Amino acid sequence: MKGIILSGGHGTRLRPLTHTGPKQLIPIANKPVIEYAIEDLRDAGITEIGIILGTNMPNKIKDALGDGSKLGVNLTYIMQGEPKGLAHAAATAKDFVGKESFVMYLGDNILKSGIEEFVSEFDESDFSARILLQPVEDPRQFGVAELNDNDEVINLVEKPEHPKSNLALVGIYLFKNNIFDAISKIKPSWRGELEITDAIQQLIDEDLNVDSFVVEGWWKDTGKPEDVLDANQLILETLTTKIDGIIEENVKIKGKVQIGKNTIVKSGSVIKGPAIIGQNCEIKGYVGPYTSIGDETKLIESEIDSSIVIGNSIIRSDKRITESLLGQNSKILSDENTYPKGRSFVIGENSVIKL
Ligand code: G1P
Repeated sequence: MKGIILSGGHGTRLRPLTHTGPKQLIPIANKPVIEYAIEDLRDAGITEIGIILGTNMPNKIKDALGDGSKLGVNLTYIMQGEPKGLAHAAATAKDFVGKESFVMYLGDNILKSGIEEFVSEFDESDFSARILLQPVEDPRQFGVAELNDNDEVINLVEKPEHPKSNLALVGIYLFKNNIFDAISKIKPSWRGELEITDAIQQLIDEDLNVDSFVVEGWWKDTGKPEDVLDANQLILETLTTKIDGIIEENVKIKGKVQIGKNTIVKSGSVIKGPAIIGQNCEIKGYVGPYTSIGDETKLIESEIDSSIVIGNSIIRSDKRITESLLGQNSKILSDENTYPKGRSFVIGENSVIKL
């Protein structure tokens, strides 16, 4: 079996972070979200992986992942070009996949359970596709599945106005090779995209077997800032303690905490896990639960919790930073001694500041 990871899309809901890089590189617990997908495939025994690249700075993904050897996989990069939908993206991998069956993983999805149990025995089965489902509060934002009394999939609709169930399609799909025939038969949807949801419906319409699993553990599609923060929280729940940095005297560390090499935690600081701090940081203040701080960051006499600081940032704030997502090179500086008093901003398009 092979794997493909879709890494295109404009990431509009994550601007301004996605003005400088693809959304699949946004770190969750200091690791790019796409690496979780790669690890899930690897742990399910799939090491031949195609990364389907879009138009939003694809080279940054190549630079970050290289040939995959660091993660124990072999990566092949495939250019999708203009994003014309998930089914279009899948179709660009036809030659890479060859005659094999494959897992298609959306590079911004993250799943607690991993995928091993779903992958096993799919190859030998007579299913043309296997989909993963999870009940959600607002199914209108997703592909939605309708099952009959025998739990067979009878209908799939992409982002329906009036959903027939609360079962959303998780962005992880297993396919046999005949999905490519199905894709060649579908037409673009109302949003002008070739939907993978419609391609799977095409299999159902042709009386081919499509199997489904309802996923028990959590699943997150990290398309929006609040989902990124939620995913960060969920991943940090599983953290183990590892302290490589320098901890000065009179520092309190509680709960599961990771601190990277060459990071200094200054005297008087409190770190309350689960929290992760990268390398070469200087921390003086309070780092609260569910916080991920990337490399080369300075926290100066400040408090932060439930947040992601991607890295290379300076925070000197007179108010606690909470539930925030700070891009690379951000600075938050409160300075009592400057005049005139007031708040001064240099912020990118689509930034959100809550005062
Ligand atoms: C895509 C799929 C949708 C699926 C979702 C899961 O949505 O089209 O069927 O439920 O991923 O993350 P999109 O991210 O394109 O809105």
